[in-house]
Amino acid sequence: MEFKLKSTAPESASGACQVLTVNQPRKLSPNGQKVDRASKGHLSALLKRGDMDGKLGQTLMLHDVPGLKARRVLLVGLGKASDMNERGFGRVINAIAAALKSSGARDAELYPDEIVFKGRDLAWKVRQATMLLGNGEYRFDRLKSDKGDKPGVLRAVTMNVAKRDAGKCRQAVAEGEAISQGMSLTRDLGNLPANVCTPTYLAKQARELSKGYKKLKVNVLDEAEMKRLKMGSLLSVAAGSRQPAKLITLEYRGAGAKDQPIALVGKGVTFDTGGISLKPGLAMDEMKFDMCGAASVLGTIKAVAELDLAINVVGVVPATENMPDGQATKPGDIVTSMSGQTIEILNTDAEGRLILCDALTYAGKFKPSHVIDIATLTGAVIVALGKVPSGVMGNDRRLIDTLVKCGQEADDRIWELPLWDDYQDQLKSNFADMANIGGRDAGTITAACFLARFTKEYKWAHLDIAGTAWKSGDDKGATGRPVPLLTRFILRQAGS
Ligand code: BES
Ligand code: MN
Ligand code: ZN
Repeated sequence: MEFKLKSTAPESASGACQVLTVNQPRKLSPNGQKVDRASKGHLSALLKRGDMDGKLGQTLMLHDVPGLKARRVLLVGLGKASDMNERGFGRVINAIAAALKSSGARDAELYPDEIVFKGRDLAWKVRQATMLLGNGEYRFDRLKSDKGDKPGVLRAVTMNVAKRDAGKCRQAVAEGEAISQGMSLTRDLGNLPANVCTPTYLAKQARELSKGYKKLKVNVLDEAEMKRLKMGSLLSVAAGSRQPAKLITLEYRGAGAKDQPIALVGKGVTFDTGGISLKPGLAMDEMKFDMCGAASVLGTIKAVAELDLAINVVGVVPATENMPDGQATKPGDIVTSMSGQTIEILNTDAEGRLILCDALTYAGKFKPSHVIDIATLTGAVIVALGKVPSGVMGNDRRLIDTLVKCGQEADDRIWELPLWDDYQDQLKSNFADMANIGGRDAGTITAACFLARFTKEYKWAHLDIAGTAWKSGDDKGATGRPVPLLTRFILRQAGS
């Protein structure tokens, strides 16, 4: 889909479906009133008759409104003006996307400034609307014989904004598009089944991605090279799998060689059976999504490269399956991580931290300004926070606060849990430097406590995205989170 910007009067628009808003009860927006006058009261007559009240997300498609060149007008309800907020905005844009999709309209024209609420400027609305409409186009039907509903006929969406705002809105459209493209890549990789999306496939996709951008280079280490680097913890997870593990590094160089990069480290378990500590069968298929952290690293780097940002970013993706097998790691086995610290593996299903600890040590080699790891790490984060925010913990106050703020700005929210030293005691092992599990209590925090032992040399934050990376049930599928949050953070660090 193509996104355009323009600044013209609504009543003079020709062609594109005009999207106009109605507040409850039955109050047309200023642009709606202009169109209403041009149509000699056609819209207000409909409202008066009760065809539309203006409830949040309600839509009414009108054809051949008299006095207008535009063939269609879509009225969309905003609810009560005083109730509007970020979530209402999202619902309105999604309702518009759905109504346009079922209409056959090829072009549509939106007036984002009509959706008024406190705290968000026009650029925010344009960026969010672009991203949401872009996401609305997303389909994952490449593995179905019957592709279902035809690809949308909607070709272009125009954001109609005041002339003086056009400059900053142009950047907002670019950001919204880049984020939605990054999210699509993340969702595709997440949605692909584990028999397609193997560690080797992830490495190939990273290489493929780098072909599109001069500033992006990819390097892939195989198991022999990981062994040379003494990544005993990562390799212990791969031991039970016939699919060879890969350590994928993506280097985006948009700034000078001396500029410290931001490092993103993404958990890439392409399928998590639990290993010898085998998971129960219920919904185990969803463990194909256990590489969504990795997928969000690729998606974010795509967005950053697409925006050609003047910043350095390194992505590190440890990719492996977690399988039960005669060669698999067993509960009680002790391994030595790249850092030299030894780990008693009491539960092979706590494998995410085992691959991340070596990847985090490896990431230190790039002298990063900040390291953010992204992982579908614990079921416990869903117990603590549900599926609304991702969990965040870390060792740097400013980094965490900045990430929380970026999450709010991107409407991709995160919530902090306390990473206090008190919890470290739970990782005590009788036989090694630490155990890989910390018991039933505070499972999300003890997982982060484990990672904290490998991240002392730099500013670090950990995002537990087990609750937010995908949806279960009827809309089962990857969400593309936290690409919006991470892209926002990198944009901010790049100074735009
Ligand atoms: N990939 C899972 C975490 C997970 C569970 C994500 C459910 C989404 C939904 C992770 O590898 C895992 O198995 N974690 C264990 C840790 C436990 C053994 C300490 C968990 O959460 O049960
Ligand atoms: Mn697991
Ligand atoms: Zn896992």
